[in-house]
Amino acid sequence: MTQRLITHLRHVDLAVPDHAKQLDFFTNTWGLTAEHTDSGLTFLAAEGSPEQYVVRLRQATDKRIDLISFGAANAADVDTLAAKLARDGVRLVHEPRDLQTPGGGYGFRFFDNEGRTVEVSADVAVRTHRKIEEGESIPVRLSHVVINSADPEGTVAFYDKHLSFSLSDTLMHPRMGSMMWFLRTNAWHHSLAIARGPHPSLHHASFEMRGIDEYMRGTGRLLRAGVEKIWGPGRHMAGNNTFSYFLDPHGNTVEYTTELELVDEDTWHPHLYDFTQPEVSDQWGTANAMNEFVASRSFNDPDMGLFVAPPV
Ligand SMILES: [Fe+2]
Repeated sequence: MTQRLITHLRHVDLAVPDHAKQLDFFTNTWGLTAEHTDSGLTFLAAEGSPEQYVVRLRQATDKRIDLISFGAANAADVDTLAAKLARDGVRLVHEPRDLQTPGGGYGFRFFDNEGRTVEVSADVAVRTHRKIEEGESIPVRLSHVVINSADPEGTVAFYDKHLSFSLSDTLMHPRMGSMMWFLRTNAWHHSLAIARGPHPSLHHASFEMRGIDEYMRGTGRLLRAGVEKIWGPGRHMAGNNTFSYFLDPHGNTVEYTTELELVDEDTWHPHLYDFTQPEVSDQWGTANAMNEFVASRSFNDPDMGLFVAPPV
């Protein structure tokens, strides 16, 4: 294995046409905490997470993923990775420098193979976080981000070759072939996954809850609030995590999950799962059936920010 310089997933940043509506959803319904707010720019923290923020919202005409952000262990690793990417011909948005976002730190940005803006940073100040209490159904941390790709094989190869992500498992369909690749950058089964889709876009962002009870309470709160549920509740085979998927006010899919598997990286062998087998998608048998209509709800709108760096 080549040396892994990325330690973990930090945050996912979204641009939305209606910032106020999205902020209301993420704070009052989803359970994140608005830590820093400027006009049209909000940094949302998960109470259980040491990250300064796990989601950033920016008011913009064009809906897009602004940024997917990963952590590195220290500034030297940030420099090493930036130099390696530049050498490999990856387009940097900017070289490593001090960051102006909450918590500061040192980082750089680049475009991935399909033009998503990715940030890698180190030395960001730790947020004062707390233990989530029994029965408290708010996110502990950002679990993982899944992206749609029009060239998933190329995107998986990019994150493997340039960023040393490892394949944990793959989902396949008997006629359509491989459909989703789960990638890890630490012992968590996946921090990133790549889905075959019609265009690059956000497939979903997933938030880890304290445990099964808190995950179910959160799921119920969203149902009672009338938020559209796409799929769940259930438990996947790949990653062994639970899932409840909802649509946010802008049609992005967001997920409550818990008990994502920690793998033994020395002995792990990736599986190839046929997701048309009911127990692969839904071990418990409690979720609504997965079909093409359900799957298409997470295709999302084409990302309007490809190869365009966000202004902040
Ligand atoms: Fe997920």
